[in-house]
Parts: sequence; structure tokens; C-alpha cells
Amino acid sequence: MKMTVTVNGRKRTVDVAPLARLLDVLRDGLALKGTKEGCGDGECGACAILLDGLLVNACCVPAIQATGRAVVTIEGLAEAGEGRPEPDRLQQAFVDEGAVHCGFCTPGMIMASRALLEERPHPSESEIRVGLSGSLCRCTGYGTIVAAVAKAAGEGYPERPLPWKSGGGERPLFSPDEAERFFVPESLDEALAILHRHPDATVLAGTTDLLPDMKKGRAAPERAIDLLRVPELKGIACDGSVIRIGACTTNGEIIRSPLLRERLPVLVDAASHSGAPAIQNRATLGGNVANASGAADHLVLLLALGASVTVASVRGERTLPLEDFVVAYRKTACEPGELIREIVIPLPPEGSLQKWIKRGSRQALTLSRVSLAFHLEREGERIKVFRLAAGSMSPVPLRLTETERAVTGRTITVETARLAAETARSEIHPRKSPDYRRAITANLVRRFFEELI
Ligand SMILES: Cc1cc2nc3c(=O)[nH]c(=O)nc-3n(C[C@H](O)[C@H](O)[C@H](O)COP(=O)(O)OP(=O)(O)OC[C@H]3O[C@@H](n4cnc5c(N)ncnc54)[C@H](O)[C@@H]3O)c2cc1C
Ligand code: FES
Ligand code: FES
Repeated sequence: MKMTVTVNGRKRTVDVAPLARLLDVLRDGLALKGTKEGCGDGECGACAILLDGLLVNACCVPAIQATGRAVVTIEGLAEAGEGRPEPDRLQQAFVDEGAVHCGFCTPGMIMASRALLEERPHPSESEIRVGLSGSLCRCTGYGTIVAAVAKAAGEGYPERPLPWKSGGGERPLFSPDEAERFFVPESLDEALAILHRHPDATVLAGTTDLLPDMKKGRAAPERAIDLLRVPELKGIACDGSVIRIGACTTNGEIIRSPLLRERLPVLVDAASHSGAPAIQNRATLGGNVANASGAADHLVLLLALGASVTVASVRGERTLPLEDFVVAYRKTACEPGELIREIVIPLPPEGSLQKWIKRGSRQALTLSRVSLAFHLEREGERIKVFRLAAGSMSPVPLRLTETERAVTGRTITVETARLAAETARSEIHPRKSPDYRRAITANLVRRFFEELI
């Protein structure tokens, strides 16, 4: 396909495969070697760039979705100098603070820092660490890097706007063979009509599951439909007693949503801890649900919140409780020709409590080893409604219904906390590291109730 993309302010056209990674387009197609490849599956941040102003990992973006958009790479930060480009203040601060360690990771770290300072010109140290949480250094540590970002911020960086919103929105120009296999609909009706004609096609959302899976050996889809240009699949709205979130709404959009911060902060919390910023800017809620994995963080929370899923096809729409929608590992109740249109979440009643907890091998970025989500409503001193869901224990997240039943109707006491912890411990049957997962689950459940006493 012919792909037109604005890179560092210059329109470029290249011939590439629709599912080629933007990383390869930049490095091999456009000879911009500043963007590096480390892990190749979204974990290390070496390939971080800005796509329409948002930090993303170029190894997780297919060319079909980058077409018509604006890209800024590390080469785009340098200032025009006499004879050769000069480093900008942020790049210079990395040099001054000795923050260029192995050098391989530095371009991605600088792009992550630029994205952070664009959003927060005066970040605290912990905000810098969160902003850089998707940029891994395994040689030296983060002290000098944090100091470099703070130095640039102190000097009033960024002082120069970047050309990141200048993408013309062009669609890819497919070859005749590709035109039968790749699609970029711009409305829901168009997307559903294509899916009706090609029920075997794979739909592409943020591709943070799909592209890393392809790297690990999953076959590339023969046919694919990009959903990211479909406006009806975006957006967050409060509609009476429910919150509706379009399937292609990203974690980044959830985190930045004033509505969710006020009405459903627990979802903002979960989104903030699902991957690091470059993943959050791509990963969608619908993709997390559709992937139907036991480790999907949002699935766990949505189960505890009593959410439903609305699917659409040319035949119309239907809404299913999430518990009926996720059928088995990587299997949902979506029928051929259907896609997820939105997630519907009941607004938690006033005075109720929601909590989501995740434990992984690192605080940010990584998939959970254990995740738990709680929803609790009280009537007077007694527990009226209690829902508890657990992830990373089984092929798909589960409601712990025995624990729910054990505590419903009781008052919250040390005895209730102990009963809930022990019931949860015996109710889960993790295949991997069962003792560890049972112990962590019991401790977290007990602590949830103890904190309420
Ligand atoms: C480095 C890294 C860290 C991660 N960390 C976390 C984490 O902490 N917690 C977590 O839960 N996940 C994590 N993930 C996994 C991933 O980011 C999430 O599951 C994400 O929400 C998937 O959304 P997506 O839009 O990228 O899905 P995609 O990869 O685009 O799609 C995933 C699957 O869903 C299907 N699909 C997508 N949208 C729809 C739709 N509307 N209707 C029907 N089918 C659809 C696709 O066809 C595909 O089969 C991580 C991934 C990476 C690479
Ligand atoms: S190469 Fe590691 S995140 Fe892209
Ligand atoms: S900067 Fe690359 S591993 Fe430390």
C-alpha cells in the first residue's frame, strides 16, 4: 500500500505492507535510525515516538493506522543549527546530567520525557518517574535521567511547538490485492457492512495485544478492518444511571476523562496501572474485553462493577452481561459479523465502595500476577451487595461467588475480614504459583475489610 505520513513536519510517501510496524517504516523505509528496537513487543520503550502528539511505541503501531497522521521522532527534536542540527534543551540536559547511558534506550526516554513535559511542564519527581515508567534502563538506573528531565523543566522546556497535528488524515492507497483484504472504514455502518461481507476479518483497535502476539508467532490476519477511524466507537458518556464507553476508547482517554475522574475513579485507577503511558495511549477498553484473557485488568474490574457489553452487526445490536460475553480464554460471545460497540457500566450507588488492586512483578507496565476488584454496598451496618472478581488465576477472570455469599448480610468486623479471606483462599485454584497467589489474594481481601473497620 502507499502510505502518506507527516514525519517531523515533512510529508513522506512510502510503499509498505498494511501491517508493517511503524518502527520498520521509520527505520527501513525512511532511514530514520534514531528510533530503536529493543524488545519489539511494547515493553521497553526504545521505539517511543509521538503519533499525533501522543507517546506510542512504534513497534505496536501498524502502518495502516499511521497513514495520514503526524509522527515526531527523536530526529525531529533537534534544533536547526549552523551546518548541523543542535540538540534541543531536553537533549542537552540528558548530556549535561550524564543521562545517556548505553545510548540505545536514550531516544525513547527523551521522547517519553518530551511527551510528559508537553502535558505537565512542571512535573514532580514521582510524575517524572510515572512518565518514564515505560522506558526501561537495565544498565545504570534512573537517577540521572530524572535529574535531566527536571533540569529541562526548570529551564522552561518545551519552548518550541512540534509539528504533531499536521497529518492530513489521508487513507492508505491499497494495491488491488490488498483492497480486498484491508479496510479503513470511517463510520460504524461502513465497518459493519465490511464485517458482514468478510466475517472472517480481524478487527484492529490499539493493536497492543495483536502486534506483540504476531511477534510471538500468532499468524498475521489475512483480512483486517481498522476500527480507529470510526467515530461511533469512541467516547465516554453518562446516560442516566449508566456510563457508556465506546469500544475504541483508550486507557489514556479514560485517565484524562473529567467525567470518569468524578463518577468512576476506580476505572481511572485501573487504566493508570494498565501498561505505561505509551501503551495507555493505544490500548482500548474494547480490545481488553475482546481479548478475553485471564490477565486482562479491565475485565476483572468490569466484572465487579456489573458491566455489560453491547455488540453490533448489520442485524442490529444486543447487550449481554459481561459474564455471559466472556465465554473462555480468548473466546467471546461475539458472533461472525459482530463487533463490540460499547461497554455499559452501571453508575455505582452513592455511598458504595469500589476498589481495584493489582500485584505484578513491577508497579507499572507489567501484566498482573494477581488482580482483585471489589464492589460493596451497605445497608446500615450490614453488607447489602458484595461483588468480588479475581484475575490472573484462571483462563478468564472470575467472580468469587462463594466469598460474596459468605459475607453478604454480615456486619464488617475482624471476623468477617477473616472469613472473607479464608473463603477467597479456598475458592481460587490457580494453576501457576498456587501458594503465592492464594496467600496474596487472602491478604488483600482481608486488608480490604480491615480498612473498612
Ligand atoms: C507492554 C504491554 C503492557 C501491557 N500491560 C497491560 C496491563 O497492565 N493490563 C492489561 O490488562 N493489559 C495489558 N496489556 C495488554 C493490552 O494492552 C490490553 O489488553 C489492551 O486493552 C488491548 O487493547 P487493544 O486496543 O490494543 O487491542 P487489539 O490488540 O487491537 O485487539 C485485541 C483483540 O481484540 C479484538 N478486538 C479489538 N477491538 C474489538 C472490538 N471493538 N470488537 C471486537 N473485537 C475487538 C481484536 O481483533 C484482537 O483479537 C499490555 C500490553 C503490552 C504490549
Ligand atoms: S521495541 Fe521495546 S517497546 Fe518497542
Ligand atoms: S540506558 Fe539502555 S540499558 Fe540503561
